[in-house]
This record gives sequence, structure tokens and C-alpha cells, in this order.
Amino acid sequence: MTVTYTFDVFSSLDGFGSYSGGDWGGYWGKQGPELLDHRLAQYGAEQRMVFGANTYREFLQLLGPGAQGSDVADPWVARMRSLPTTVVSSTLEEPLDWPGDAHVVRGDAIDVVARLKRESAVPLRSHGSLSMNRALMAANLVDRVQVTIFPVITGQTGSAPIFPGAADFDLELIEHRTLDGRIQELVYRPTLHV
Ligand SMILES: NC(=O)c1ccc[n+]([C@@H]2O[C@H](COP(=O)([O-])OP(=O)(O)OC[C@H]3O[C@@H](n4cnc5c(N)ncnc54)[C@H](OP(=O)(O)O)[C@@H]3O)[C@@H](O)[C@H]2O)c1
Repeated sequence: MTVTYTFDVFSSLDGFGSYSGGDWGGYWGKQGPELLDHRLAQYGAEQRMVFGANTYREFLQLLGPGAQGSDVADPWVARMRSLPTTVVSSTLEEPLDWPGDAHVVRGDAIDVVARLKRESAVPLRSHGSLSMNRALMAANLVDRVQVTIFPVITGQTGSAPIFPGAADFDLELIEHRTLDGRIQELVYRPTLHV
């Protein structure tokens, strides 16, 4: 028996996971109450977070002591930070400055997540952690790709493209919803296209 691993990622319509420059703000400025409630409900379930080192470092900068930003105080983010967390890294050192039970695990995420999937009593979820999740998808370890598409195109300011250099996949749509009349959440089961 293995538990489910979900790669949860926010995206512009043109496939960017972030932006540089511009004045978009968190969620590209398109969040609404339905999205925030839905996120809180999803993160309310018992689960373990898995982050790549760079995403952890970025969260620490955005959410750590003294951080300011529109999305910092959102209840789902507080809930995410309170969940048990594994950060896969050979460069970060403990103790981690994180409110939940968070630990660094050394090694390749492919081995770490394969083991966690066998041993964890609760489902696994990763937010962001783009290069780590691309590697996990190529290794067939990602069961669900949950893409939340915000209604923006960021041809000028987009950064952190989500799937550059990824393997090829067929996607089975297993859930979809529209939130706040403008945001699409799509949940797919990926299968390597061979
Ligand atoms: N759109 C969204 O939902 C969202 C959310 C959060 C963040 N982000 C974006 O995501 C980006 C950060 O992601 P990232 O791709 O730079 O890094 P990442 O995936 O967060 O972290 C990469 C690090 O994870 C560790 N790792 C262990 N095994 C790995 C493997 N098999 N493959 C890859 N990494 C492995 C390595 O750490 P060591 O070098 O320490 O060993 C590696 O350097 C930022 O641009 C951020 O803005 C997007």
C-alpha cells in the first residue's frame, strides 16, 4: 500500500509559476473567497508536506519573521505551515525555522518520496517545488497534478515556468472546479507517454 502524492501548483494561463517585476501581487491579484475557503478545506485534511529546498527557502523569505504580503496571513497558508513537513535537501541545515514539525531529509527526492509513499500513514502533498516535482513526475511518483490556473497571461513578467524540460505525459482529468467565477482548479492523473 502506498499513499497518494499530489503536486499542487499555481499557474498563469501560459504556464508560469511566478513572475518577476510587475505589480501583480500574490495569486496574481485574482484570489477570492471561494479559492481561499477551498484551499483551507484541502489543507485541513491530515497530510504531510514535501518541499524542495528552494521552495522552502522562498517560503521562509515570504512567510518568515517580519515578512509582509497580502497572502501571508491567509488561513490555508498558516495551516500548510503547521502540517508535518519534509524538506528534501543536501544543503539546508536543521533546525528549520518553521512552525510545524519540519525536517530536512538528505538524498535524491526520488528515493525520499518513494520511501515516504511506502511508509507514510497520511497522503503527501507538495506545493511549488518545481524542479523537484518534475523529477518526481518523470520517476512516476506523482499520482495527482493539481494545477490552479489564475486568469492572467504573463508573457512579459512570467518566471519559473512549471514544465520546462519535463517528460511527456498523458493526463486523465479526475477533478475540475471553477472558483470565484474565474479561477480553474484542474486535477489530473499523469501517465508517462511512452
Ligand atoms: N507556482 C507555485 O505554485 C509555486 C509555489 C511555490 C514556489 N514556486 C516557485 O518555485 C520555484 C522554486 O522551485 P525550484 O524548481 O527552483 O526548486 P525546488 O524544487 O523547490 O528545490 C530544488 C532543490 O530540491 C532538492 N532536490 C532533491 N532532490 C531533487 C531532485 N530529484 N530534483 C530536483 N531537486 C531536488 C535540491 O536541494 P539541494 O540543492 O539542497 O540538495 C534542489 O536544489 C521558485 O521560482 C518559486 O517561485 C512556485
